[in-house]
Amino acid sequence: MTDAHYRVATIPGDGVGPEVVAAARAVVDAAGEALGFAVDWSELLVGGAAIDAYGVAIRPEDVEACGAADAILLGAVGGPKWSDPSAAVRPEQALFALRGGLGLFANLRPVSVHPALVGSSPLRPELLEGVDLLIVRELTGGLYFGEREEPSGPVGARRAADVLPYTESEIRRVVELAFELAATRRGHVTSVDKANVIATSRLWRIVATEIGAAHPDVTLVHQLVDSCAMLLVRRPADFDVIVTENLFGDILSDEAAVLAGSLGMLPSASLGLRRTEHGTFGLYEPIHGSAPDIAGRDLANPIGTVLSAAMLLRLSLGREDAAAAIEAAVSRVLDDGFRTADLLPPDGHHDGLRQVGTSAMTAAIVERIAIPEAARAIAAAPS
Ligand code: IPM
Ligand code: MG
Repeated sequence: MTDAHYRVATIPGDGVGPEVVAAARAVVDAAGEALGFAVDWSELLVGGAAIDAYGVAIRPEDVEACGAADAILLGAVGGPKWSDPSAAVRPEQALFALRGGLGLFANLRPVSVHPALVGSSPLRPELLEGVDLLIVRELTGGLYFGEREEPSGPVGARRAADVLPYTESEIRRVVELAFELAATRRGHVTSVDKANVIATSRLWRIVATEIGAAHPDVTLVHQLVDSCAMLLVRRPADFDVIVTENLFGDILSDEAAVLAGSLGMLPSASLGLRRTEHGTFGLYEPIHGSAPDIAGRDLANPIGTVLSAAMLLRLSLGREDAAAAIEAAVSRVLDDGFRTADLLPPDGHHDGLRQVGTSAMTAAIVERIAIPEAARAIAAAPS
């Protein structure tokens, strides 16, 4: 019997977005069936698809509908059709409207290396041992939301400008969260800035130092962004929680994705302060983009979105049971040798591996959603 209902707004978006969102929905529904809950899914037209339909990347009523759900699951937005740099309306504007409009200031990007995928990363296996880090990226400030001056002036003398503002409270809330998360992990925060050059980075460092002083249980290290970029590939296992501003976090998280073997593996959560009946309201999406070159061809790796849905279940819906079941199922498909094209080792050693498409990978994950008896008994018990 199904006794709990949750409301999740989905934004399939563009490119491979609809395929990976459908995959994650199927996996969540399978977990719900096993554990006795159901998700009411709604679907919104956002991104390039919305530009075609409504002339804007997202309509205000759709931002509102997202805010009224328990959580949002997003595939990807964007594609070559809408990427003219001079266009006034761009699919990415939908992301900023959702992040800014819903107050989702903290972007969590966990990166770990599944042992079976060590050979899929271009880095040497011994560097990858023990990698388990969490990037906490500030998401509603900095260059992304500062004032802009678009390119103007005569050819040869054109100019443009972007302003990088940060307030103390914007820094404080995200760094505080990083410390709270570190306390539940290995107790180590790396605060990344460019304090030797940029004023907002100096403010960042002052605030991070104050927060560090109030958390003697957590070690704080300040790292300049350029050296952090180098250490991420040289000694990635040394990092626990990395907290940084919007643009640095964008860049470092793509770099860190290489550790996991493929961008297609990685999930993310964007959180604010709003609590729902079941947890913290948030938006969940894979960190990969819309990959228009492989869209509609059953080639996309659904795991980043499936693992994003697991984060959604854990953080927004309070369903640790379902989140853990999904993560275990993903781990088992990898152990069992299932690989989408992006996960095949570059060295050509494919023995024991089975190359599959999006739908076969999804089916393999669904098949492995085995709920331990104990969890089943707890879910079935009358409360
Ligand atoms: C991300 C993406 C976006 C960002 C783009 C699509 C605007 O790269 O979520 O990391 O820069 O935030
Ligand atoms: Mg990015």
